[in-house]
Amino acid sequence: MDRKHWTEAGLDHVWLPYTQMKTARPPLPVARTDDCRIVLADGRELIDGIASWWTACHGYNHPHIRQAVERQLAEMPHVMFGGLVHEQALTLARRLAVLLPGDLDRVFFSESGSVAVEIAMKMALQYWINRGERGRSKFIAFKGGYHGDTTGAMAVTDPDGGMHDVFRGLLPEHVIVDLPADAASGDALELVLARHAEKIAGLIVEPLVQGAGGMRFHDAATLQRLRAMADRCGALLVFDEIFTGFGRTGTMFACEQAGVTPDIVTLSKALTGGTVPLAATVARKHVFEAFWSDDPAKALMHGPTYMGNALACAAANASLDLFEREPRLQQVKAIEAQMASELAACRGLLGVKDVRVRGAIGVVEMERIAELHALRARFVEEGVFIRPFGNVIYLTPSFTIAPDELTRLTRAIVKVIGS
Ligand SMILES: Cc1ncc(COP(=O)(O)O)c(C=O)c1O
Repeated sequence: MDRKHWTEAGLDHVWLPYTQMKTARPPLPVARTDDCRIVLADGRELIDGIASWWTACHGYNHPHIRQAVERQLAEMPHVMFGGLVHEQALTLARRLAVLLPGDLDRVFFSESGSVAVEIAMKMALQYWINRGERGRSKFIAFKGGYHGDTTGAMAVTDPDGGMHDVFRGLLPEHVIVDLPADAASGDALELVLARHAEKIAGLIVEPLVQGAGGMRFHDAATLQRLRAMADRCGALLVFDEIFTGFGRTGTMFACEQAGVTPDIVTLSKALTGGTVPLAATVARKHVFEAFWSDDPAKALMHGPTYMGNALACAAANASLDLFEREPRLQQVKAIEAQMASELAACRGLLGVKDVRVRGAIGVVEMERIAELHALRARFVEEGVFIRPFGNVIYLTPSFTIAPDELTRLTRAIVKVIGS
């Protein structure tokens, strides 16, 4: 079927993400991808600045991942994880346990970031139930935070200025406060914890960078403060590394930069190098031990149908091979330096509020973006795929992007907002 046919025939039947279907401009039909490029069905080629929502850290179609998935497809694409296990999943669990700090060594697989967050929350709630404390049902979460689109994850996402405004008042209520980035916000959080300590199951935060809530950065000391506070009130500390994990902030995991080991960590996105959906919720020993019992009621009653999918685990193992064999973290450092230098040209341009870079995340925050869709279209005219949201224009390229390709992305930003 030709492009005209499949787009026109199909678009009336698909429901697109984060889209007012009535007023949205039509999406761009893609024919294929190649390293850091997206080839459109009409032949145009775009340099990709987003890496498909931060997943394609090795570029698209990396031959090592493709071969691993092809091999696995021939052998066994999937087998249920209930009562059965397989080499790819167990190898991946072991490798993640080795890579993660401290005793984060028990891996529960699922298929998406939001579900990994739901599982982390469920784990934290049941951790307390299993220990005989049924009153710990609340989470502390942070302004600017985003943890996914399922109901539990939405409930710990900042409702202000977010996407889930319409659900206000309908979701389970948790406590959303400022990150303890300074003395005043630290004191405010201490007060909340002191007042409600016996109701708090856990604190959940995206370490170092709050992504979809506005690409906001905080420092390692904030995370150290959170660790100390969680310890004082006995709550579990959950790091959502779905965006920050696998090199994006300059270290394999963001928590390493703070020297903090959370009690539970969630992973997804770049886990498979952007090829097949997979997520993981990883618990420390003491969390797992709260479920270890002769009592069946103390088991974690969760088991997504496609849990531990063999194709996805094969892709993730291949992705970890690439982190071992290829200089990914050095590439992130080089991207960081190049973006810092090239995006600096945006400082002082009309309407620019802030320019910041951390790892392979470059952000130009505007006072406001009036015409988001027009802005996105302007970038396409410049031959790049950049997808601003809210008041933020950002780059999260694949780590394999060539310096001249990265320059095309940063130049496009400078040109478009300067014009
Ligand atoms: C920090 C964080 N947590 C959770 C999610 C949700 O992941 P998914 O879209 O795979 O459900 C995202 C997605 O952007 C995220 O950035």
